[in-house]
Amino acid sequence: MTPPHRQPARHRTAVLATVPVAVAALLGAAAPAGPTTGAPGAGDPYFPLSGNGGYDVRHYDLTLRYDTTSRRLDATAVLTARATQRLTRFDLDLSGLKVTAVTVGRTEAGFRRDGQELVVTPRHALRAGQEFRVTVAYHGTPKPVTDPDGAADGWIPTDDGAFVAGEPQGAMTWFPTNGHPRDKASYDITITVPKGRTAVAGGVLLSERTAHGRTTFHWRETQPMAAYLATATIGKFQVERYTTRDGIQVYNAVDAREARAAAPVLKKLPSVLEWESKLFGPYPFRAAGSIVDHAPDVGYALETQTRPLYDSAPGLGTLVHENAHQWFGDSVSLTAWKDIWLNEGFATYAEWLYREQHGGRSAQQAFDALYARPASDGLWAYPPGDPGSGAHIFGTPVYQRGAMALHELRRAVGDRDFFRILRAWATAHRAGHATTAQFVRLAEEKSGKSLKELLHTWLYAPGKPNST
Ligand code: TRP
Ligand code: ZN
Repeated sequence: MTPPHRQPARHRTAVLATVPVAVAALLGAAAPAGPTTGAPGAGDPYFPLSGNGGYDVRHYDLTLRYDTTSRRLDATAVLTARATQRLTRFDLDLSGLKVTAVTVGRTEAGFRRDGQELVVTPRHALRAGQEFRVTVAYHGTPKPVTDPDGAADGWIPTDDGAFVAGEPQGAMTWFPTNGHPRDKASYDITITVPKGRTAVAGGVLLSERTAHGRTTFHWRETQPMAAYLATATIGKFQVERYTTRDGIQVYNAVDAREARAAAPVLKKLPSVLEWESKLFGPYPFRAAGSIVDHAPDVGYALETQTRPLYDSAPGLGTLVHENAHQWFGDSVSLTAWKDIWLNEGFATYAEWLYREQHGGRSAQQAFDALYARPASDGLWAYPPGDPGSGAHIFGTPVYQRGAMALHELRRAVGDRDFFRILRAWATAHRAGHATTAQFVRLAEEKSGKSLKELLHTWLYAPGKPNST
């Protein structure tokens, strides 16, 4: 309890807060976060309500049952977390779905819904530093969210299951989450589906059991993972399993309608991972693979951790791209969506390097073809290091000009230092986080050159940069 001598101060705060609280209540918004309530967002201006303040999740244990006919999900999520401040109340992100019970520790907690926030009030306040467990029972028909760029993400139903891709904010459509990449955690995901369907998540398959016409798949990812990289994709899949020469456990799940087109590309996965490991350093995970769904309306692939997800049979370039993300984006994570070029610029440049080293056009040729575009082209519409809003994070400047920035760096420092920088980047921040400023610093450190001006021009200057 609060010691008595603090009462007057608390009282004053409460009086001052009355007006904004009343206004917020009228608008149906969350009450302003005080010093003992967890913030409703992680502070990312592109997605202000994504993630939450006041705690860190260590582990998600998700138990899901999905009926592919009625499209109903019945689920329990158990989150193990640590409070980073005293908490009388905290938020989880959850979009749609009906919550039936929330417990904190063994005690039932109060909860209410407020847009995409599930506001939890534990019976007893949590101490700063306290480890705690939150259990959420929920069910309903999950629906994807529409992103600012118009794309759908999250739980996307298909004709035989669901395509589950959470970037940037769709994790909350299927589990209560601290949904910003700043907070990574390990995952156990157990999914029960009608017999004959396969449910695929990231990491290693611990068990697969069929009883009473249903099959339960238990997946475990022990490496820290951002919520947007989790999946629970369900379909009628052909499954292939093997272990690579490096001891990586591969699990491929392929929709029969995509199998013929996918086969020659998936066959290259071990050699692609070996090639990427030579360039970027050891593969950061224990498991790998592919989920090739038949989801023609989705329109994109996602680098789900350890097991990229494709909406149709991928080309080799896409396979290289999504697996490059395992180093750049999955192992080394963003702290803010503004830095998205650290994911997409790097994965795109990996495609350029792959072509260059496998008898295709050189990275220089790729650069030149893009650079030839006039100043009015969409490629120069905004700088990759500062796309300006969540609507632009998957735009051409982020992918292509982001890759061009890396190519300019390579020309400035030479191949030897450039590849040393790439490897050092993946190694220094392995299983962690990093920012653009840290990348610029590392590049300067490794090369001994002053690179701020060049990288700032390519990453932050509006319009078409001059190239030397
Ligand atoms: N990160 C994905 C890739 O390039 C692309 C992606 C994920 C995407 N979610 C999206 C693109 C939503 C557009 C809209 O590998
Ligand atoms: Zn990508």
